[in-house]
Amino acid sequence: MNKSNSQPAAKENYILGYGEGAMQWMTSRTAEVHGAFLLPWLKPGMRLLDCGCGPGTLTLGFAKRVAPGETIGIDREASQFTATVNAAQRENIGNLHFVTGDIYELPYADESFDAVFASAVLGSVSDPQRVVAEMARVLKPGGIMALKEFDHGGDIIWPLSPLLEKSAELYHGLRKHNGHAEDCGRRLRGWVHAAGCDVQHLRGFFDQQAGPDELRVYIDRNNYLINEILGPQYIELGWCTQDDLAAQAAAWVEFAANPAAIYLACWFEAIGIKS
Ligand SMILES: C[S@@+](CC[C@H](N)C(=O)[O-])C[C@H]1O[C@@H](n2cnc3c(N)ncnc32)[C@H](O)[C@@H]1O
Repeated sequence: MNKSNSQPAAKENYILGYGEGAMQWMTSRTAEVHGAFLLPWLKPGMRLLDCGCGPGTLTLGFAKRVAPGETIGIDREASQFTATVNAAQRENIGNLHFVTGDIYELPYADESFDAVFASAVLGSVSDPQRVVAEMARVLKPGGIMALKEFDHGGDIIWPLSPLLEKSAELYHGLRKHNGHAEDCGRRLRGWVHAAGCDVQHLRGFFDQQAGPDELRVYIDRNNYLINEILGPQYIELGWCTQDDLAAQAAAWVEFAANPAAIYLACWFEAIGIKS
């Protein structure tokens, strides 16, 4: 087991929480879209581990691809799994399992998976490199390490008014305050390499907003999440007031109505093969 000075998972603050707003974001993700880069590498019979799987909508899609191989989703918060467990039962998918656990200390033997995956997780832990090393530990030689992460340092939001700038600054500040790398996407190549995997695919790209309708959905989800869990943390830290948040939320809605507005979220994806 790796040793490190990082905090145990139970003491880390997962800033997005598990409320309705967070679930709106996570359950919108599918293997076909958000996990598409991994699909060509998967084959029936592979054993796959999805680390920090959240509600498991991606995990479900992967399970269909590797069946009859076992697919396991592991996350520290089990309340998220219920809807996907029910969906898998309805669809008679028997090779999918969810486990409550800590991705810093995966409860699996060395070299016991053909593929390990993590999406939007490494930017929410204080020692991401240790998590990647732990993922590599359970990966068989020749196995596939697939990582996908945001990189907020690469986001393009335009036109940016002072209120929107402040809103972005609060969010980035909260990640930094919790010791999380908000620009982790660009670090994936180095982490995969350091974990003993040969990087075979690396791509940085924007999660593109096609037009005003799509942008409004995006902004509404963000405002919901701020209201639900991020805002109360900013206020608790003394960084702003409820009135400030209301003004910022209104500015985001105004932004979404601007036909010139652009909100491009930067992401990276990487595939490495374990030596
Ligand atoms: C942003 S969500 C991403 C969920 C999913 N992978 C996706 O892309 O939609 C991050 C997930 O990582 C989980 N997580 C964070 N730290 C963890 C840890 N140390 N052990 C297990 N899960 C962890 C959180 O509980 C949360 O469900």
